[in-house]
Amino acid sequence: MTHDSLARTTALILAAGFGTRMKSQKSKVLHAICGQPLVYYPIKAALDAGCSDVVVVVGHGRAEVEKYLAKTFGNRVRTALQEQQRGTGDAARAGLSAVRAEAERLLVFYGDVPLLLADDVARVARALDANPKAALAVATCSLDDPTGYGRIVRGEGGSIIEIREQKDLRNDTERAIFEINPGIYAASVDYFRESLASLEPNNAQGELYLTDIISYAAKKSWSVVGVDSRAEVLVGVNDRRQLVSAEETMYLRIAEAWRLAGVTVRAGARIETGVTLGQDAVIEAGVHLRGNTDIGKDAVVDVGCVLSNVRVGPSTIIKPYSVLTDSTVGQGAQIGPFSHIRPDCAIGDEAHIGNFVETKKTTIGRGSKANHLAYLGDGVIGSGANIGAGTIFCNYDGFQKHTTTIEDGAFIGSDSQLVAPVRVGKDAYVGTGTTVTKDVPDEALAIARVPQENKLEYARKLRARMKAAKEAQKSK
Ligand code: UD1
Ligand code: CA
Repeated sequence: MTHDSLARTTALILAAGFGTRMKSQKSKVLHAICGQPLVYYPIKAALDAGCSDVVVVVGHGRAEVEKYLAKTFGNRVRTALQEQQRGTGDAARAGLSAVRAEAERLLVFYGDVPLLLADDVARVARALDANPKAALAVATCSLDDPTGYGRIVRGEGGSIIEIREQKDLRNDTERAIFEINPGIYAASVDYFRESLASLEPNNAQGELYLTDIISYAAKKSWSVVGVDSRAEVLVGVNDRRQLVSAEETMYLRIAEAWRLAGVTVRAGARIETGVTLGQDAVIEAGVHLRGNTDIGKDAVVDVGCVLSNVRVGPSTIIKPYSVLTDSTVGQGAQIGPFSHIRPDCAIGDEAHIGNFVETKKTTIGRGSKANHLAYLGDGVIGSGANIGAGTIFCNYDGFQKHTTTIEDGAFIGSDSQLVAPVRVGKDAYVGTGTTVTKDVPDEALAIARVPQENKLEYARKLRARMKAAKEAQKSK
């Protein structure tokens, strides 16, 4: 959804902090939830809200964060550098230097609040529009347990006069405040310039607090609009407990949205942010759909499957406990149970891949089948081929990978090895147990095994001999 009222509004997202409480080597805002880094979500909210420009303030772990932003958002997002992490007010100052001259208004929020949506930020901006006399608008929210958040201090008559950080609470009256600061601020660019310039680090953490732009207004007797927010929105992720708890909420939210859109998503299925699902698809319990996975309409992904960046065609069935990665599956196909589709496979329409079949970098044509126990690596398999149980594509000689080509309609008998590079021609037949080392012409039969000999009555003689040997052993 976009809001016209957010034209000429720049979103400033603060993401330069150390994230000390994560106890991590990597930048806090790059820790993922539901398949995307934390910082993805507030940026998405700003873009969806229709902000004309989005500036992310980076600092700690800057190179990695910038790399991610460029890859994911291209030129829709710009960055500003906060050289030293001296607090959220200092970060906002750093962001101001990147704000364009034509920008009239700023929406400032934090990069560690992943549950925030477009409407949550747009509402704060709209509240400012609705109160032309107010200097600024801030989101507020009441919580049963406000621990860790800045508290909204109201003066006589109920006007917002200050935000006090947890560490700076002065008395029991302040400790008894349950109204907290989710951290979404809207004001004119001019107001931000003026109030940010006045900040001083006279607080428990010796930092420049962005929140002090509220008391700046109060001191000038300018009014501050409080905008009621959903409690869910504010969840700031400071440590890994909050990371996982925010993620749980987001998984539920994603599943609900797909259910309402016409997909059966059973409880306990986990669908990441970048996944898309077709109508009437069924996603069973314990399924994980990751990355850019796309499931076609009427497809079924049964219990316990893990799919990462996989495109599955309509009406295909992925049976339980199959693992598929970076591949495509056509329509009306059947995979699993217990299949392993490794990267770069393209499984054709109506193909069947059965239990304990592993494929890697292999294309499989329409209607071809490999139903049991096989390794198909670096293969090119045509349509209507049948790959018997126990077939192995010997693709690796210890130095290089080689291709096995199976033409349309070929039949590979069970327990065959195909020593690549090798080609089995159209409608050719490979006898069970054959080690194929030479190309097989179209319609030929390849067979390479020791001829069978039947020694009549020999089983009885053999048993008698072995029994005698065992008894001789005992009597020793
Ligand atoms: C902040 C608010 C608090 C609010 C809470 C909501 C301040 C002083 N406090 O506290 O009132 O209730 O968020 O979640 O603003 N950052 C920088 N540079 C810095 C420091 C921080 O870019 O020098 C960024 C961080 O990367 C983070 C965000 O600002 O994304 C918030 O910083 P954090 O330290 O998590 O603030 P809180 O203590 O959560
Ligand atoms: Ca935080």
